[in-house]
Parts: sequence; C-alpha cells; structure tokens
Amino acid sequence: MNAPIGVFDSGVGGLTVWNTLVHLLDQESTIYYCDSAYAPYGNRSKEEILERSIKATNFLIEKGCKLILVACNTATTNAIAELRSLYDLPFVGIEPAIKPAALMTKTGKVGVLATKGTLYSSMFHKTVTDYTSGIEIITQEGTGLVEAIESVEDKSEELKSLLNLYLKPMLEQKVDTLVLGCTHYPYLIPMIDSLSTSELRIIESSKPVALQVKKRLEEIEALAISNETTHLFYTTGAIELLKRFVPKSYQENCYLLT
Ligand code: DGL
Repeated sequence: MNAPIGVFDSGVGGLTVWNTLVHLLDQESTIYYCDSAYAPYGNRSKEEILERSIKATNFLIEKGCKLILVACNTATTNAIAELRSLYDLPFVGIEPAIKPAALMTKTGKVGVLATKGTLYSSMFHKTVTDYTSGIEIITQEGTGLVEAIESVEDKSEELKSLLNLYLKPMLEQKVDTLVLGCTHYPYLIPMIDSLSTSELRIIESSKPVALQVKKRLEEIEALAISNETTHLFYTTGAIELLKRFVPKSYQENCYLLT
C-alpha cells in the first residue's frame, strides 16, 4: 500500500527515529508532524499531551497515512493507549529501552535520561517494575535540554553544562549504561561522549522501533510496493528550525502549519 507512514513528535526529536525508519524502509513515503510550537511536551499534563497527540493524529489521517509512528517517548508513555482506543489504524510508539539496558549493564546500574512526563508515567513505572529486578535504575529529568535543542539560537554551551550537571552524579554512582529516553537526545550523543568515558554505553530505541513499524506493516499487508517515495514535513513552529534538522534534499518539502 503506497499510503505514507505518519510520524509525529513535540518537535524535531522524532527526526532521529524518522532517519532510521527511512533507511530501513526505503520504499515507504512519510509525513512528519513537528509540533515545535507546543514543545516541550515533557512538562505538560497527560490531558494536554493527549490533546496535542490527537491533533497530530487527525492531521496525519487527513493526509491519508496508513500507520502512525509516535516518535516521542512522552506522547507514547502518556497517550498511546488512548490513541489506540480512539482510532482504527495501527500505532507504533517509542519508550525508554529499559529492558535491553538491564540485560547489558555490568555494574548493575542503569541511568535513564528522559522528560518528567515520561519518568512519571505509569507505563514507565510498569516497565521498570517488570524488567529491572536486581538492577539499580537512576533516573534524571532532562529539564531544559529539549528547549535548548528546539531553540533557533545556538545553545551548545548551555547544553554542555546541563548535560554535565545531569551526567556527573550518574557516572559517580558507576552507571555504565545510559538510556536516552527522549527522541531529542540522540542529537546530544557526541556531547555525552565528550563528557563521559568510553565505558559508558548509550542506548536509544530508533532501530527496534523502525523494525516494529516494518513488522506491523507486514502483518496488515500494507508495505509499499512502489519505488517512488515522498517525504513531507510540517511544523507548527519555526520553519528555519525544522529545516536545520531535515536532510538538505528535503528542504523544499518543509511547510509551516498555520
Ligand atoms: N522527543 C520527545 C520525547 O521523546 C519530546 C520531549 C518533550 O517535548 O519534552 O519525549
């Protein structure tokens, strides 16, 4: 089925998942909904996150999408259950990769950097309870990180000092595995590397999520059969910010939603 896959996030973070997705499924077209005007979602209430997720979903359905990828940990952990009960089409979400991290750690200490909304969600708590017995989970809210990434100005100095503040206590506690529980954070991997040692293993979930999209499309027999793909990007916020994160070849395909 040549209908596009719909992808949404509070902002440009979901493009880290989109990137993995289009490499894995190179025959698929996509439509990306970037909700930068309402970012960050991380400090919003569950009701507000659901309201924005419904808005994004309705837009993507109107554009004819066959599956929705919720490329946002905060929206997945707070709203995907409700979205699945409201709509007929399939949803794939992203959550902090706690389970693989718990299997990988050698020190028995796993750090999780995520938004407040994700860390306080019942979905996150259930995953921690179900899969981390005997493992110490050290959580850290990434307050300010999404705002700095979503800024049209260069905030690299601020990002570096915030990351240092958040990582130091984890490293002092011998965390050897760090879960990036927000799709904006993979942009910070080079900075995290520069602030930590090579012993720190960084885990993000875009690969398993892209594979899950493939699996769902196979199950419903909706994989694309054409070689002609289109990738469109819509933002509620600053178009120049979106263009900074979208690959050069798709700059012309970026639109501002009014
Ligand atoms: N990219 C989001 C996530 O994965 C967004 C966080 C936010 O908007 O606070 O959680």
